[in-house]
Amino acid sequence: MRNTRAILPLFELSKPGRRAVRWPKSDVPETPLEQLLPREALAAEPPALPELAEPDVVRHFTNLSTLNMSVDTHFYPLGSCTMKYNPKRNERIAALPGLANLHPYQPEHTLQGLLELLWELQAMLAEIAGLDAVSLQPAAGAHGEMTALLVARAYFRALGQPRTKVLAPDSSHGTNPASAAVVGFESVTVKSTPRGFVDLDDLRAKLDAETAVFMITNPNTLGMFDRHIREIADLVHEAGGLIYLDGANMNAVLGISRPGDCGADMMHFNPHKTFSGPHGGGGPGAGPIAVRKTLAPYLPVPVVERDGDTFRLDFDRPQTIGRVRSFFGNVGVLIRAYCYLRTHGPDGLRRVSENAVLNANYLLSRVKHIFPVPQGERCMHEFVASAAKLKAEKGVSAMDIAKRLLDYGFHAPTVYFPLTVREAIMIEPTETESKETLDAFAQTLFRITEEPADLLHDAPHTTMTSRPDEVQAARKPVVVWPEEGRSEE
Ligand SMILES: Cc1ncc(COP(=O)(O)O)c(C=O)c1O
Repeated sequence: MRNTRAILPLFELSKPGRRAVRWPKSDVPETPLEQLLPREALAAEPPALPELAEPDVVRHFTNLSTLNMSVDTHFYPLGSCTMKYNPKRNERIAALPGLANLHPYQPEHTLQGLLELLWELQAMLAEIAGLDAVSLQPAAGAHGEMTALLVARAYFRALGQPRTKVLAPDSSHGTNPASAAVVGFESVTVKSTPRGFVDLDDLRAKLDAETAVFMITNPNTLGMFDRHIREIADLVHEAGGLIYLDGANMNAVLGISRPGDCGADMMHFNPHKTFSGPHGGGGPGAGPIAVRKTLAPYLPVPVVERDGDTFRLDFDRPQTIGRVRSFFGNVGVLIRAYCYLRTHGPDGLRRVSENAVLNANYLLSRVKHIFPVPQGERCMHEFVASAAKLKAEKGVSAMDIAKRLLDYGFHAPTVYFPLTVREAIMIEPTETESKETLDAFAQTLFRITEEPADLLHDAPHTTMTSRPDEVQAARKPVVVWPEEGRSEE
């Protein structure tokens, strides 16, 4: 049954004079605002804020929060996004007053603990990457891609070779070509083989003296590890280009294989995927990058450096591309990543990846009887099933399946990505799910395929809204209150 519980905007609940807080009468002399602020900084009228009692506010936000799905409430197999459980310990440590109350403008000698933590995080990420230097500045994976491409551009300009092209496979995440375009490169697509690997002939044909970077995601977005990675790296290096490793899928290979050892020259991490940072509302995120020694001089400033027992922010880097973010990166997220890495240690991290791969293969072995998995019997941390057969037989699409799963209390997998699989359903269970949850998910998928098509076309049936017009929602979002044409009454 649809959840029709209306959650009114706070403005509509407002009653004049209602308060959550009553301030005690001031016991110091009051100064009129006009004497404290210039007249042009003063509003003519006080802002029209809602007036409410504390329980109204608490109920409003608590009810709102229950309309959403989250990793803390539901299984969330959103392929490519690695929605693993976020340990509460990380939250507690990031909120410690000695960390949370620091101000980025404090003098360095009062920030030594934090700088040491960030310096150690740089060193741990470099070790996991198998590369030499790290920047913690970028604020998301896509921002890391952009930053690394700026580094590559600066590197080639310094060599006197202003190369113009960035290559990426057709299975790559949309951010890869987008980052290339943002930095001013021409983006060139390289074909994949039917098994989902880089088509080496197509790569050879497209590599030339203008190729700056080949961006590769390994394991790729089909959940397959491209075993030709060394050969690919050799081909690109022979053409004078660099290899960029999109590290969004590092959850499959931690402590098992290192991008640097496979020939990568630069990469980004997504701590909000791999190191259990919270995702949410588009942020806050982080996208640290790691690079080879030759590219290190171009990294953004500041980099955290160690001089004996002292830690400092190094801005004195003449070849730097400059700043890509304010202060020293998204420190709250970086602290969570640090806690996660320290908690697991090298052996624990390897187990994380082994279990992520085990869980994905277990689920694949159950799902392949329901939805074919074109890329085969084995996967890394995720796999892509196809609803194309069901669509042809019953008219039921990947979107119908995804929406119906919400009625059964499962977040939908990623659908229609990568574009190379028809009616794609991309499933990533992560290592933090139990066998019982995976079994329940597979059983539910099966049950849905047995349901009448009409029921599925209209799903979900139990959520507050069913299928909004997603194009209109993106193109014409209603972001003002009250909505046009709607009275305040
Ligand atoms: C393969 C891949 N690359 C890059 C990104 C971009 O990362 P972010 O969302 O942190 O910007 C994603 C995000 O889902 C991804 O899956």
